[in-house]
Amino acid sequence: MAKNMNNHLENLQKDIFLKNDGYGVPAFDRMLNPLYRGALAGPDGYARVTGPCGDTMEIFLRFDHDRINEASFETDGCGSSALCGSFAAEMALGKTPDELLGVTGDAILEKMGGAPEKEQHCAHLAGETLQEALSSYMINNVPPNEK
Ligand code: FES
Repeated sequence: MAKNMNNHLENLQKDIFLKNDGYGVPAFDRMLNPLYRGALAGPDGYARVTGPCGDTMEIFLRFDHDRINEASFETDGCGSSALCGSFAAEMALGKTPDELLGVTGDAILEKMGGAPEKEQHCAHLAGETLQEALSSYMINNVPPNEK
């Protein structure tokens, strides 16, 4: 009985959320199960970017043979920025630096299934921070003969 009630409430919450807020189903599911949050010690790539809204996003990347094998985020921002950071970290996993260039704010929004217009800048902040973290990795890994 309690389980049925919980399922019913979860479905109701999902309906209200999807109708009123403009997020997609993947974003809703991630909200219930946030992933990839927390700092990585000694990352190979790292960036901290403050968006025009004043919120800050951090992205941590660890590479293994030029592919990302660990990624995470932190933010002091809203729930939406946490969602976007989570998708950015997830989308980074397994990618090479070249492939990572495709993980932009627009790609994050598409993966989330959309977001309300007023929250879309959160995805662009996550995408920009990810690209900055990639740059920090690239700068630190220039072969000695190319420096
Ligand atoms: Fe600025 Fe979410 S409101 S990142």
